[in-house]
Amino acid sequence: MPDPGPEAGVPHGRATTVLVLNGPNLGRLGSREPEIYGSATLADIAAACAELGAELGLKVDVRQTDDEAELVGWVHEAAELRLPIVLNPAAFTHYSYALRDALAMRTAPLVEVHLSNPAARESFRHTSVVAGVADGTIAGFGQQSYLLALRAVASLLSGRTLG
Ligand code: DQA
Repeated sequence: MPDPGPEAGVPHGRATTVLVLNGPNLGRLGSREPEIYGSATLADIAAACAELGAELGLKVDVRQTDDEAELVGWVHEAAELRLPIVLNPAAFTHYSYALRDALAMRTAPLVEVHLSNPAARESFRHTSVVAGVADGTIAGFGQQSYLLALRAVASLLSGRTLG
């Protein structure tokens, strides 16, 4: 994607909003296979993201859905408003061409995140149909993956990522 420019994510001169979008089953974090995904709930992750976001000058809007159409709708919204996205597509990572096509229309930075390291798990998790339209992917660091992704977004917005 071309440089989003200084106005990306700042529709009317307010603090930059970052959408932190989460796909199916991530609403169950805390009780979902904690040996793989850790004990933090999505609320814990949202609180950590909000705290770091405040430090970085980012307003963080954390959402989760089990519904592909709803997730695609949020991606359209982000494209229209030029909002950056931190995205854990969960299982959609591996097969949702609809999600990938929506993300291909993005107008601001996109960082894919995973709590676990899909490359070290079952072979069906080794393919991400999202990775090719993202600025980058951060995987394997539990809730830290989200925080690293927020830092990456801040860096992308400031144009300093490759420096
Ligand atoms: C996940 C990895 C995916 O393979 C899985 O389907 C998920 C979570 C992760 O955060 O590690 O639901 O995206």
